[in-house]
Amino acid sequence: MIVQDTVLRNEWIVACRSADVQDRPLQITVMGERVVLFRNEQGVHAFKDLCIHRGAALSLGCVREGKLVCPYHGWEYESSGACVKIPQLPADQAIPGKARALPYGCRERYGFVWVNLNGNDPDLFALPEFDDPGFRNVIWGPQTVAAKPPRVVENFLDVGHLAVVHEGYLGVATHMEIGDYRVHRDENGIRTDEIAVFQPDPDGTGQAKHVYYTYEVLRPLTVKFTKRDRETDHEMSILLTVLPTDENQSVAFGVLSFNYETNLTDEEIIQFQDMIFAQDKPIVENQKPEDLPLDLQVELSLKCDRASIAYRQYLSELGVNLGTA
Ligand code: FES
Ligand code: CO
Repeated sequence: MIVQDTVLRNEWIVACRSADVQDRPLQITVMGERVVLFRNEQGVHAFKDLCIHRGAALSLGCVREGKLVCPYHGWEYESSGACVKIPQLPADQAIPGKARALPYGCRERYGFVWVNLNGNDPDLFALPEFDDPGFRNVIWGPQTVAAKPPRVVENFLDVGHLAVVHEGYLGVATHMEIGDYRVHRDENGIRTDEIAVFQPDPDGTGQAKHVYYTYEVLRPLTVKFTKRDRETDHEMSILLTVLPTDENQSVAFGVLSFNYETNLTDEEIIQFQDMIFAQDKPIVENQKPEDLPLDLQVELSLKCDRASIAYRQYLSELGVNLGTA
C-alpha cells in the first residue's frame, strides 16, 4: 500500500547501505513504492521500478555500459531516466519521447543511499562525526521491525527504558531514577540537555558509572544520541534513521561513531547493537496504537519523557501522517 505522507515524500529517506548497490540493480520498497537503485560511473540512481513498455520490474534487469536494461525486452535507460535504446525498433525510427523511467531524487552520503520520492534535492542533515578523522564510524543495519517508524524512533529517544529493557547492558536496576532535563528547539531540530544515566560498563573497562546522554531529533525519521564520559571526554554517538517500507514495517539503519579506541571489531560493535535492538523489538512491535499518538492527552507521560513529547510535537507541527491511499 502506498504511504501518502506529503512531508515524508519530500524528505531524504534512507534506502540501503551504499555497499548494497554494486553492479546489479536493487529493488527497495520505500513507503509502498517499488524503487530500483542502480550504480554507474555517475553514481547511484533511483527510478520507479517499472518499465513503461509492459510494466516489468527494472530491478530484474541488469546494468550494461552504465544503462539500466529492462529484463523483458531489453530497453535501455540512462541516468536521467530517458530510454536511449529500443532493440526492436527499426533503425530509421526515433525512440518515442514518452519512453522514460521515472527518476526519484537519489544521493549517497554517510554510508547510505537516500531517496526522495518527489524527485527533489532538499538539504540533508549534518553528521559531523562522519567526516571527522577523529571519529571511527561503523555502519549498522538493516534491522526490520513490524511497526511504524515513529514508534521505532521514539523508542530510541526513550531514556526511561534503558535500565529495564537493557538491564545489565545500558542501565542498572538499582539506578532507575532520571533527573529532569530540558529540551531545546532550533532550526536544526530538537536537542536535549545532557541527561545523567548510570551504566554498568559504559566504555568496556568494567567500571560502572554515570555517563551523559544527549538526544537530538534531526529529521522526522532521523535521530541521534551522544553518550559522553565527563572524566575521559570519550564520546560515542548513534545516528538512527528509519526506512518506512510499507504501512506497518520499518527498517532501521545507523551510524555508530566513537572518538576513542575500543578493543572491539566492527563486527562485534554491530553484534552488540543487534542484541540491544532485539531487546527493543518485541516491545515496539506490540505497542498500541501502532500510530504514535501525537495528541499529548493520549498516553501518560513523565518528565523524563520530555524528548519523546518534543518529538511528538515536532511530528505534529510538520504534519507527518503515515496514512495510506
Ligand atoms: Fe521493459 Fe518491455 S517491459 S522493455
Ligand atoms: Co532500547
